[in-house]
Amino acid sequence: MSNTPFVNQNIKPINTTRNKKGNLEISKCDVVELAKKYGTPLYVIDEITLTKMASDFINAFSRYKKTKITYASKALMTSSIAKILANMGLGFDVVSIGEIYTLLNAGIDLSKTSFNGNNKSIEEIEFAIDNKIDHFSADSIDELKILNKIAKQKNITQKIHLRVNPRIECHTHEYIQTGQIDSKFGIDIEKIEDVVKLILDEYKNLELVGLHAHIGSQIFETNVFRDEISILLNKIKILNEKFNIKLNELNLGGGYGVKYIESDNPPSIYDFANAIINSIEENCKKLNLDYPILYIEPGRSLVCNSGVTLYTVGNEKNIEGIKKYITIDGGMADNIRPSLYQAEYSAEIANNKNENKPEKVDVAGKFCESGDVLIRNIELNQPQKGDILCVYGTGAYCYSMSSNYNRMLKSAMILINDGKSEIIVKRQTLEDLVSNDIVLERLK
Ligand code: LLP
Repeated sequence: MSNTPFVNQNIKPINTTRNKKGNLEISKCDVVELAKKYGTPLYVIDEITLTKMASDFINAFSRYKKTKITYASKALMTSSIAKILANMGLGFDVVSIGEIYTLLNAGIDLSKTSFNGNNKSIEEIEFAIDNKIDHFSADSIDELKILNKIAKQKNITQKIHLRVNPRIECHTHEYIQTGQIDSKFGIDIEKIEDVVKLILDEYKNLELVGLHAHIGSQIFETNVFRDEISILLNKIKILNEKFNIKLNELNLGGGYGVKYIESDNPPSIYDFANAIINSIEENCKKLNLDYPILYIEPGRSLVCNSGVTLYTVGNEKNIEGIKKYITIDGGMADNIRPSLYQAEYSAEIANNKNENKPEKVDVAGKFCESGDVLIRNIELNQPQKGDILCVYGTGAYCYSMSSNYNRMLKSAMILINDGKSEIIVKRQTLEDLVSNDIVLERLK
């Protein structure tokens, strides 16, 4: 696996190697020792890779001084992860009171936070406003109405963006496309003028400052961002002239692709940044518009390749002449992505094997569902019961989409850095699992 300077083009965390014992080592931590110390399944985040991914974004967009990076928390949100990124100056895109609460828990104020989502509750809106969120991305007319009502009650003017559906289809899995016309997200670009008129006429406690769109996730082409920019800036030009307003914020969402398997070939973050910045400059010149404040909301591309998951190999099932399954002590509850999106992953046996004798297997999870196969058709070096399997690229959308399916306990997460390891999310306990259950008196 090649190591390029851009982390989103690497499958593995930056300092991944084999140590003298022949064990896999990440950031000077022996992976087999980590599994022994903390148990498996175990989410491992390499802080050096994580901060490199964040600084790739900061550096790549530094030429466009008006850039604001708001990390899409849904990819991976824990208090320590949030704090690391906040300490680097990043803001946040949140979609729930839980994500907001996690930021506050980490001591992060909401002055660089935008609130997205297509059905924010009254409780969530009030909580966000009371905690001085920077702005909302309003997704519908219903939301505008309620936002204005709450802002009026609280006697404030709330800054908002309008979430627009720009009708762009990009080539990624159907479930993670968002810009196509029948998407549940955003206001149709063709209806925006009516909606802006409504805001200006009726919703006096809202201050519309920009447009927002998000066209999909795990995108491997830069041209769709050019299309998005051209559509949004043309619309801003029309709105500014028609209504004599000055929208000057442009939020392009996230979606920058990363490498999970050898055949993935995403552009680097610098390629994405250059395409975006050049396109903004070209369009602004053509339309005679001031350069807007640019928001980007990377999620996956900021965390994915800093994370791995460690599992212990269990029982095997050999179907003579057909295939061999090895099982692991986790699966779809700690990583739903293969079952949900046919997502593919790279992995290797972490403990030393002396010689290399690859064997083709399917890696099955332990959950009661046939679709719970984490990796199909992968070559692993003599996998055996008791081995430690390291699955790469699990930093994004694994922990954040995890569940207690089959009443399995959620895994712990550790942060590693240059030989040190620290727990940042404790493993759930059996007591945690039943802590919200109530055994009715009358049933006893
Ligand atoms: N901004 C908005 C408004 C979004 O809806 C999303 C992701 C992002 C930013 C961040 O996108 P990213 O940079 O991570 O691609 N669970 C799926 C991905 C769903 C993405 C949903 N929205 C997966 O595991 O592939």
